[in-house]
Amino acid sequence: MLFAGLLVAVGAVAFRLVVIRQFPGFGPASGGALVDPARPAARIGRLASLAVVLGTIGRLVAEMGVFRDPFEPFWAEIRLLVAGTSWGRAWLAQITAAALSVIAFTLAARPGRAAEPGWMLAAAGVVLLAYTPALSGHAVGAEHYVTAAITADVLHVAAGGAWLGTLAVMAGVLHLGRRSGAEISRAHIVDWITAFSPLALGSAAVIGATGLFAAWLHLGAFSALWAEPYGRRLSLKLLFVLGVVGCGAYNWKRSRGRVLASGDPARLPPTVVLELAVAVGLLLITAVLTTTTPPLHE
Ligand code: HEM
Repeated sequence: MLFAGLLVAVGAVAFRLVVIRQFPGFGPASGGALVDPARPAARIGRLASLAVVLGTIGRLVAEMGVFRDPFEPFWAEIRLLVAGTSWGRAWLAQITAAALSVIAFTLAARPGRAAEPGWMLAAAGVVLLAYTPALSGHAVGAEHYVTAAITADVLHVAAGGAWLGTLAVMAGVLHLGRRSGAEISRAHIVDWITAFSPLALGSAAVIGATGLFAAWLHLGAFSALWAEPYGRRLSLKLLFVLGVVGCGAYNWKRSRGRVLASGDPARLPPTVVLELAVAVGLLLITAVLTTTTPPLHE
């Protein structure tokens, strides 16, 4: 939930900054006014940030389950964990960034120019959010190259959001736009895919490079990919990565043609939903991976 929320929150900002900047607006809704796609994007961003808040609370509950001393008062234990450990300080940063993002996206969902400060705040909120997994995960505990490990992790998460988060937001905005009666032509969808594709391609390159670096940093030996629990989970993740990349490549090459050839109402092809579904599996295995001790940390 935390990773999915984080990626979609990053995606909401990327969608606003990259896609809508180039191709703003749907056609008029039945009332006549142009429908602004930034508003549903902000609402999706707010929901995603709320998921991060819940996921972050879940992490605290899980951590307490492991470290709780039944003979100590509950609240004293929580205070000690949150204020007295580096894990707790990273946790505080994460919940603060998530709460800030909820407020920012709420402001960004306002109509017209009143939304601009909200979007600026949301951009700051998701940058902070993308920073936080590195601070409480394996990146900060790496044996060597800690600064490089944290930087790579931040880029890995941000690029994941710029690719899959933006795709999820685009699908969600089209769905919400259709429900609100906006006129969404095939040309609109094709324009959005055209704006999105270079972002996705660049992000995929960053994800590959930073993921390989993190794998090299944590694995120790190539044989750990099958010989160690951490490596086996990473190998499983790579299978999901292949699935997402396969769907992404197909959508990159074919989705515009399929949108143009589709019936009414115009919509994204089902392979986009497939790409997002495989991405959910990828995030689930990533969640397991991040809670498995890497060979080089033992
Ligand atoms: C679409 C593709 C991908 C997405 C969305 C994705 C997403 C993520 C996320 C959200 C994290 C958690 C970061 C953290 O907790 O600090 C992560 C960690 C990681 N990813 Fe990826 N990833 C992708 C592809 C890859 C690839 C291709 C590789 C390897 C070549 C890779 C290797 C890793 C490693 C080693 C970690 C660190 C896990 C740990 O903390 O122990 N990822 N990824």
